[in-house]
Amino acid sequence: MAPALLTTIDETRSLLDERRRDGATVGFVPTMGYLHDGHGSLMRAARAEAEVVVASIFVNPLQFAASEDLGDYPRDLDRDRELAGANGVDVIFAPSVDEMYPFGPVLTAVSVGELSTAWEGASRPTHFTGVATVVSKLFNVVGPCRAYFGEKDYQQLAVIRRMVADLSAPIAVVGCPIVREPDGLAMSSRNVYLSPADRAAAVVLRRALDAGREAAAGGATDPATVAAAMTDVVTAEPRAELDYAAAVDPDTLTVPDRLGSEARLLIAARLGRTRLIDNDAAPVGPAG
Ligand code: PAF
Repeated sequence: MAPALLTTIDETRSLLDERRRDGATVGFVPTMGYLHDGHGSLMRAARAEAEVVVASIFVNPLQFAASEDLGDYPRDLDRDRELAGANGVDVIFAPSVDEMYPFGPVLTAVSVGELSTAWEGASRPTHFTGVATVVSKLFNVVGPCRAYFGEKDYQQLAVIRRMVADLSAPIAVVGCPIVREPDGLAMSSRNVYLSPADRAAAVVLRRALDAGREAAAGGATDPATVAAAMTDVVTAEPRAELDYAAAVDPDTLTVPDRLGSEARLLIAARLGRTRLIDNDAAPVGPAG
């Protein structure tokens, strides 16, 4: 069945408050739309664990810099509604920019300190404040819930977990595994920007992560050694321009002097005009 489509904060808040009063639990999947199976997997996880599943579709201007793709960001509400319905969503909250930001530029922002400044934050300095602000606003609309985020945006997940903990928000944050195309490319709404040649070359990110995992599994505890293994793979692909490749602590996202038993590998590269990110867990040293 097609999910109900709500566009105002008031009607969404009252519907979900009423359902909670009847004893229902709420599962929430925040998205910017142009849904793919990565979003589908979050919706299915919410469906399995909550009585009411709500997904938001809102391309949030606050998290785009002036030079970024806000105007071009792909949108298709009819198709999104179908995909959301097929994955068990009951309610879509799709507000307008005016509904979310009726006073124009916000005077209040949520900023998650040093977790927001490295990696994606270094290339996109205002991005995570835009994400944390809209997500906390969406949490205020949806109310107490389990909220599902993909590990594809690993730094975003860390930022949101920390925001929820720091602000004691009544939200259980659930991280869900990355969903990949058959050749290993992580699913992303931005993959539609890739030319056929760049799409073929984009698998280099997955291959770089594999090289990093292999170095870590082989016992490399120097983060620079693991990062170099990833960098070598990307620099050998002429269509790719590396932004960063790093082996970090999975919780703090900082580069330790020596890797512990598990690292997180982070990578970002540009293919043509499209900037792609990916990441993976990397056990350090031989298993067992
Ligand atoms: O991951 C996204 O799609 C967005 O950053 C989010 C969490 C929906 C906030 O706009």
